[in-house]
Amino acid sequence: MKKIILTVVLLLVSMTLTACQFGNVGSDKSITVYTERHYDTDQLLYDRFTELTGIEVNLIRDDADKLITKMSNEGEDSPADVLIIADAGRLHSAKELDLFQPVTSDVLDENVPNHYKDEENHWYGLTMRARVLVYHPDRVSASELSTYEALTDSKWEGRIVTRTSTNIYNQSLMSSMIEIMGEEQARVWATGLVQNFARDPQGNDRDQAKAVVSGVADIAIMNTYYIGRMLNSSDPYEVEVGETVRIFFPNQETTGTHINVSGAGVAKYSKNVEDATKLIEFLTSEEAQRSYADANFEYPINPVVEPHDLLKSWGTFIAQDIPLSKLGEHSVLATIIMNEIGWK
Ligand SMILES: [Fe+2]
Repeated sequence: MKKIILTVVLLLVSMTLTACQFGNVGSDKSITVYTERHYDTDQLLYDRFTELTGIEVNLIRDDADKLITKMSNEGEDSPADVLIIADAGRLHSAKELDLFQPVTSDVLDENVPNHYKDEENHWYGLTMRARVLVYHPDRVSASELSTYEALTDSKWEGRIVTRTSTNIYNQSLMSSMIEIMGEEQARVWATGLVQNFARDPQGNDRDQAKAVVSGVADIAIMNTYYIGRMLNSSDPYEVEVGETVRIFFPNQETTGTHINVSGAGVAKYSKNVEDATKLIEFLTSEEAQRSYADANFEYPINPVVEPHDLLKSWGTFIAQDIPLSKLGEHSVLATIIMNEIGWK
């Protein structure tokens, strides 16, 4: 009997030692992540995070606006530890709704450049995307393109498409123009742009590229990653569209191309702040950044990590140098102006 007890005790001791070698494996630590991302490769990263830290990750996936509403309604009872959403405008609204708490982390300071995070550390960028000009090479030559501002020239009348003003990507673009040009000039710019639209704004970003290929328009204003997604689509027409169009980074000699981020913050009422911070540290790490960004053909936020070959083939570009929080701060005014000048 004594021998059996001794064997059991030794077995338990050795199991505990093994668990210790791998951090907290075997413990029941877990965090809950609210995210709008739904890529298979993300799960591999969460599994790797669990392997490294012993912290299990429960995912709640939904649209960004639904997750924000859900967290606001849940208040102090929210199970969320981390919120991951796209667009600095949305990240800013989540901050305004008091959904995040500031965190301090040397690792995050190292991984995330200052201009890709909230000034008060409420959220940190995870990936970056650019809102570019996508054109048909048979009807437009790159030498004719220069800036967002130049799209108001009468030569582009009836030749430009983009989505509606209810879309946050266009609201953030408009906010950036307000920040750079001032309210009045931004209003003049938007008015001139709308005058050159080929049709009433409609559809998603992919539909804008399709309109360029089908001859409805010659230039689309859209996000870079949709080209990557179309080139890798299971729909042969989307692949054809992706292969036909060309990308132009506007404002390279002036104020830079409009960029935006997806980002993550620790939830205001998280009871696992340390573990939640560890996840964001991991997602911005050299190990995770490449595959995390590649899943949606976005640019890594961590400057030591190289982007996907497709993105490299488009060349490097200069980005707008404005605090991303401004995109959120101007978003209400941006929407008002867009409505007033008839950007549907
Ligand atoms: Fe998108």
